Amino acid sequence: MKAIVYTAYGGPEVLQIKEIEKPHPKDYEVLIKVHAVSINDWDFGLMNGDFINRMLNGIFKPKRKILGSDIAGRIEAVGKNITQFKTGDDVYGDLSGDWGGFAEYTCAREKALALKPATMSFEEAAAIPQAAMLAVQGLIDKGKIRAGQKLLINGAGGGVGTFAVQIAKLYGVEVTGVDRTGKLDMLRSMGFDHVIDYTKEDFTKNGKCYDLILDVKTNRSMFEYARALCRHGVYVTVGGSIGRLFQALFLAPWISLIYKKYFRLVALKPNKDLAYMNELFETGKVKPVIDGPYKLDEVPELFRIFGKGEHKGKIVITM
Ligand SMILES: NC(=O)c1ccc[n+]([C@@H]2O[C@H](COP(=O)([O-])OP(=O)(O)OC[C@H]3O[C@@H](n4cnc5c(N)ncnc54)[C@H](OP(=O)(O)O)[C@@H]3O)[C@@H](O)[C@H]2O)c1
Repeated sequence: MKAIVYTAYGGPEVLQIKEIEKPHPKDYEVLIKVHAVSINDWDFGLMNGDFINRMLNGIFKPKRKILGSDIAGRIEAVGKNITQFKTGDDVYGDLSGDWGGFAEYTCAREKALALKPATMSFEEAAAIPQAAMLAVQGLIDKGKIRAGQKLLINGAGGGVGTFAVQIAKLYGVEVTGVDRTGKLDMLRSMGFDHVIDYTKEDFTKNGKCYDLILDVKTNRSMFEYARALCRHGVYVTVGGSIGRLFQALFLAPWISLIYKKYFRLVALKPNKDLAYMNELFETGKVKPVIDGPYKLDEVPELFRIFGKGEHKGKIVITM
């Protein structure tokens, strides 16, 4: 089968398309013919090999050599301990921890998968898992989003932001999106009430305040975020600069105590809310924003595009 393989950490040039042996499922796995896979920020971190990702996937070189967590495909074989799925089922999910999605076939544990609704395409399904889970868990579980609030999404035009605005709108909140100039028209068309071009305006200094901030970049100091929050406002980060995240962990209790503004961090629970996303999709309330689909041999170039932030929504690759 064809797969995108990497044997050393580095830039997109370390990703190479190779012909390798098709995997065999273990007793607790299913074999999936992958129809679509999407790129996540985490794949990018695993390719570069920053400190935290080396802890996860090998200090000197990658242990798991095929990246790709968010896949959609058809089950081709099942291990003997599999109870929830059968051959021929169409499934999707986030395989993070095992990865292996940038390939024509991959193996997965059943807890990483949900049945794909018949009305959802493989491309749409592959766009959902990680980004939509971060949006749901950030807004609902950590942010406790409520009707009438003012919400700001920092880094609005990528995977998480494009799901988050659709989910937030179901709660009747006013949503502001922050991203670069070229993405603002797309944000408006998606239902953002206000957009801010971060190359021209600093949302922490415009005199406005927000009840809830959902941040995918975490590129500002915690004091700047505190300034942009209304009293009793909540800031939720799903990820971004490691230095800023450590700063948040250290300063959050003090800022809560002094300013009565609250800081929360999402630790992704993979696949937890796929059933909820199926329901939102089937009732026409949420639709993934897809950049593509592209082909497997384009993956190194697509990582270049992703690294420069030139994508809109989720980059999806089909086999
Ligand atoms: N918490 C967890 O357990 C967990 C697990 C997995 C992933 N994550 C995190 O989840 C996040 C993934 O988000 P995503 O998929 O939405 O990423 P994404 O698709 O890369 O989107 C990020 C958006 O932010 C924009 N942006 C860049 N610089 C900005 C700035 N200074 N101000 C405002 N916007 C800016 C980017 O556009 P331009 O670059 O074009 O400006 C892009 O549109 C990452 O932070 C990742 O680390 C967290």
